[in-house]
Amino acid sequence: MRWFVFMFLVPACVAHLNVYLSSAEVWRLLGLTAELFYVRDGQINYYALNFVVPVPATISELHFTWQSLARRPLPYTLHVDVVSHPEAMHQPTFNISSEGFVPIEPQTWKVDLPCTHTVAAEVDITISLNVSTGPSSTTLHFRRRKICLKDAPRPAVRVDSVPHAQTSADIFYAGAGCAGAALLAAAVAAAACRARARKLRRARSDEQDAHAFLPDSSCKSAASYTSYRRPTSLPASAAEERARDLQQRIAELTIQRCRVRLRSVAMEGTFGRVYRGTYADEDGREQEVLVKTVAEHASQVQVSLLLQEGCMLYGLRHERLLTVLGVSIEDQTAPFILYPWAASWRNLKQFLMSCRGASVGGAAGAAPPPPPLTTQHVVRMALHALDGLVYLHSQQVLHKDIAARNCIVDENLRVMIADNALSRDLFPADYHCLGDNENRPIKWLALEALQRRQFSPAADVWALGVLLWELTTLAHQPYAEVDPFEVSAYLRDGYRLQQPANCPDELFAVMAYCWAMSPDDRPTLTQLQIFLRDFHTQLTRFV
Ligand SMILES: *[C@@H]1O[C@H](CO)[C@@H](O)[C@H](O)[C@H]1NC(C)=O
Ligand SMILES: *[C@@H]1O[C@H](CO)[C@@H](O)[C@H](O)[C@H]1NC(C)=O
Repeated sequence: MRWFVFMFLVPACVAHLNVYLSSAEVWRLLGLTAELFYVRDGQINYYALNFVVPVPATISELHFTWQSLARRPLPYTLHVDVVSHPEAMHQPTFNISSEGFVPIEPQTWKVDLPCTHTVAAEVDITISLNVSTGPSSTTLHFRRRKICLKDAPRPAVRVDSVPHAQTSADIFYAGAGCAGAALLAAAVAAAACRARARKLRRARSDEQDAHAFLPDSSCKSAASYTSYRRPTSLPASAAEERARDLQQRIAELTIQRCRVRLRSVAMEGTFGRVYRGTYADEDGREQEVLVKTVAEHASQVQVSLLLQEGCMLYGLRHERLLTVLGVSIEDQTAPFILYPWAASWRNLKQFLMSCRGASVGGAAGAAPPPPPLTTQHVVRMALHALDGLVYLHSQQVLHKDIAARNCIVDENLRVMIADNALSRDLFPADYHCLGDNENRPIKWLALEALQRRQFSPAADVWALGVLLWELTTLAHQPYAEVDPFEVSAYLRDGYRLQQPANCPDELFAVMAYCWAMSPDDRPTLTQLQIFLRDFHTQLTRFV
């Protein structure tokens, strides 16, 4: 278990020194907002050092920042080796001398990685830094994999909007983890809105795409960062989990692309696709997976949205929760997220629509129409979602996008809650921008979330009420007749979703209760559990 080995190595120390990538640099390379420390106050971070950072074709220089925290400048030597494919790269150069002193003030320096453009290759580069700390010295190796294209590079892709780089004055030490990407929310949503407006779908054959997507079919050496395993025991609290460092989380989450085989397209979305496939772990055991990708030429904003949403539930474990198995960011142009999967699982919204008899909603597959859903089924499914949500809240996580589209159902009608990365762009009609460039699930939002962006457990309860309504209507569009811009006024005036034709009064009462104007008036999850369990017992008694 390499993961644990590195745990024990972490406290290694060099003299007082910081070596890190600024948040602007991490953003450029990984599309995440956080600083990445290699050495912080003398502590070497081996997770970070062992992480082979992919360098996209569009980036040809790397920036590092360092600072001596001893009261004097520290002597260093610096050199760079092209480890593989020397024919694809000229000798890299620094803009500082190869011998000198690490200054007391933070200093940024760069390494130029000039591709020859005569061959295409993934060039492995190691930058070695030797810092003398009095009698002893420490050598650090930074590993990069630069993608060199054969022809002259295209001009750098413009990202729609990039958040402000942090100045070194407001370095944030809190482990940003996936949550760090929250800073992007506004930029991301703006891009999502714009991209949706010019949504286009390619009609290329699925097979061709599946192959194009995974160019690399041989596994790299097991020593690369991608071979870390997730720890088998998870930290006690969600807060602890979130407080861990970005690089550690990446190390845990990252899986090797070559271990993933794509088979077929399961769902087609606006910015990406969901594939069915298999994942082989290090012991060669294969498991079914679902692979969420972004489109080949997705902007970094879309990439971070995918990672941010996909990471939301990472590290949590519950039978009513579908959480990511891992991510791959080896190739900046086509990162993906992997979920455990079973052949019989379906997206709940698509499943409900297929229960209407007619096949609606695209690639629903060739499954035979399921038997009609009874109220009992509906209540049991709602209870499953409720159990998942109870667990989430117990871990201090608000879901903020509870809806049928974000649930999975198996052949025994067991429901699991998933994050919204899996389906957000598969149901574009469920998300709207209200002129503020933020793409939100308007018709699932509680009034205060809609008007003032206030989220509390009670806002998840509201959305759960809408999910109940979706279950009883076989995923009708809520307020189909109401313009998204009018929803807020409509709700404020006291209007709510109507009672579905076949929905018992008791059940509708629960929904209506979830949609109380004041969050305080809505039921708690525990009250809902008690009510739905009782109601379910009554139903079984009379059948
Ligand atoms: C090296 O290049 C970086 C990035 O362009 C710049 O910020 C830095 O000031 C340069 N350092 C020196 C010593 O010229
Ligand atoms: C690092 O530099 C020191 C002093 O210049 C030297 O004695 C030592 O051998 C170097 N270490 C390595 C691993 O190159």
